[in-house]
Amino acid sequence: MSFSLARFFLHLRLGVSSNTATTRTRKSFGYLLLAPKATKFTTTAIHKDKSQKSSEEEEEEKLLVVVGGGAAGVYGAIRAKTVAPNLNVLVIEKGKLLSKVKISGGGRCNVTNGHCADNLVLADHYPRGNKELRGSFFNMHGPVDTMSWFVDRGVELKIEDDGRVFPVSNNSSSVVDCLISEAKCRGVSLQTGKAVTGASASASGKFLLKVEKRTLNSVEHVEADYLLIASGSSLQGHSLALRLGHSIIDPVPSLFTFKIEDSQLTALSGVTFSKVVAKLKLEDVQRNIPQLTQVGPMLVTHWGLSGPAILRLSAWGARYLYSSGYKGKLIVDFVPDLHIEDLKSMLSQHKNRFPKQKVHNSCPTELGLVKRFWKYILDHEGLVGDTLWASVSNNSLVSVARLLKHCTFEVKGKGQFKDEFVTAGGVPLSEIHLNTMESRIQPNLYFAGEVLNVDGVTGGFNFQNAWSGGYIAGTSIGRLAGNANLEGAIRVNRV
Ligand SMILES: Cc1cc2nc3c(=O)[nH]c(=O)nc-3n(C[C@H](O)[C@H](O)[C@H](O)COP(=O)(O)OP(=O)(O)OC[C@H]3O[C@@H](n4cnc5c(N)ncnc54)[C@H](O)[C@@H]3O)c2cc1C
Ligand SMILES: *[C@@H]1O[C@H](CO)[C@@H](O)[C@H](O)[C@H]1NC(C)=O
Ligand SMILES: *[C@@H]1O[C@H](CO)[C@@H](O)[C@H](O)[C@H]1NC(C)=O
Ligand SMILES: *[C@@H]1O[C@H](CO)[C@@H](O)[C@H](O)[C@H]1NC(C)=O
Ligand SMILES: *[C@@H]1O[C@H](CO)[C@@H](O)[C@H](O)[C@H]1NC(C)=O
Repeated sequence: MSFSLARFFLHLRLGVSSNTATTRTRKSFGYLLLAPKATKFTTTAIHKDKSQKSSEEEEEEKLLVVVGGGAAGVYGAIRAKTVAPNLNVLVIEKGKLLSKVKISGGGRCNVTNGHCADNLVLADHYPRGNKELRGSFFNMHGPVDTMSWFVDRGVELKIEDDGRVFPVSNNSSSVVDCLISEAKCRGVSLQTGKAVTGASASASGKFLLKVEKRTLNSVEHVEADYLLIASGSSLQGHSLALRLGHSIIDPVPSLFTFKIEDSQLTALSGVTFSKVVAKLKLEDVQRNIPQLTQVGPMLVTHWGLSGPAILRLSAWGARYLYSSGYKGKLIVDFVPDLHIEDLKSMLSQHKNRFPKQKVHNSCPTELGLVKRFWKYILDHEGLVGDTLWASVSNNSLVSVARLLKHCTFEVKGKGQFKDEFVTAGGVPLSEIHLNTMESRIQPNLYFAGEVLNVDGVTGGFNFQNAWSGGYIAGTSIGRLAGNANLEGAIRVNRV
């Protein structure tokens, strides 16, 4: 124990920029080390012989600070510490660790997506990043690697029909607990309730970080050799990147529902369609963008439309929708597998077979429509409840068919609070090396996760970006730190 303390204080001595800060930092680390849980992991993590102590103390200890204890930060920290056990790894999290992992997928955690064996197909699920992520990124650590990582550490996973991967427990705590215990047993320091509020690079290439603990109104200064910014969509993270010479692509929300002002539609709240083709038309977008047409399930909510097809449109259209004030037209084909002519004759045959039936009560079963929605369509065409099929004109039949194939909704805005799962924008990928996640602007600076201008559609793709980026960054930092320690290690071995 005293040995671990010595190691920590050693790096603190190197790691602080003023005397007053030394005392404070020492105190807080002292507290960390004396906390019962922390004691356990710091001592077990350092597999050093007592005889090596003196050389160890002479050796300069390297410190990696990870800003943000989300998926990317914690995964990256574990990886760095695994590759370079001698590296000190400190995760600073302003709120709670892994809070988004905990709430994702309705508390089940959509860990990743297991349906994209081909990395090119996988990359196509990222409205921001699809071109760049076609390269080495997922080859270095893809969905299969992530699944093995968790399975190897005791988290049983299952792949659902649509490819989404969940813990068998249906409880995101399995994933959170696994990550935290892995971090602790490797000796990663996890500090919560503190925010990194300032960063600069010193002439010697180190990072001077300002760390604030809001509740106590205290400020610490930490000097880091390596910095991994994994701050998610936080604006604070963006400003750290800006301070270190990066640019930021304006953040805008992605993955939201559409607000549709149509009380007859929203009265159908809860109705789902297993397959529609939905096309988004925006005034400012004249050219044809294939991704603004999506096929998939759709859901009526009490303020408009949602479901995978809509969320995908919101993601691919995120920037256009933002600039158009979230106004546009949504054109939905409710029977995408039927040609309009087949649909017309189907309706006509139905009319001939059931002339005495009331239209509201009798919908061709082949259409697979929910009764409430069938009524919505008929009401739209002025076909009221008591109308018999026999009295439906051919024109009306054609209109019903057209409406089912080409139903236009006015998008009036985006769904409010809590629907925005991700943020588009952040550090442009052109400013980092994707094979190491290192900054092209500042050496020893790394980024991973949502802080980058990468975001995926629903189904676990956003987490996969965080796992892959964290893993690659952790590997690169670990290797660099390992090499930096190599000289010291050789010296130690010779003692
Ligand atoms: C409700 C909800 C559900 C979601 N569901 C899914 C899903 O099912 N599947 C999927 O793939 N994606 C989902 N996402 C998106 C996914 O959660 C994110 O893409 C993913 O968490 C990004 O990981 P990250 O580590 O980059 O960022 P985050 O998980 O956001 O972690 C960043 C962390 O950094 C901390 N931080 C930021 N700035 C600082 C600072 N200056 N100092 C200290 N700490 C800081 C933050 O407090 C945060 O904990 C969901 C998101 C939400 C909000
Ligand atoms: C987990 O959830 C799925 C889908 O909701 C369900 O089919 C399965 O039985 C659940 N498993 C457990 C262990 O609760
Ligand atoms: C999930 O697991 C945690 C810890 O194992 C437990 O406290 C929690 O009640 C579980 N949640 C559900 C919904 O089962
Ligand atoms: C309506 O359509 C049917 C079949 O498509 C056709 O036989 C019939 O003549 C049409 N009636 C009118 C009034 O156009
Ligand atoms: C995650 O899965 C849940 C189902 O458990 C689903 O409701 C949610 O939309 C999914 N989220 C993403 C981002 O795929």
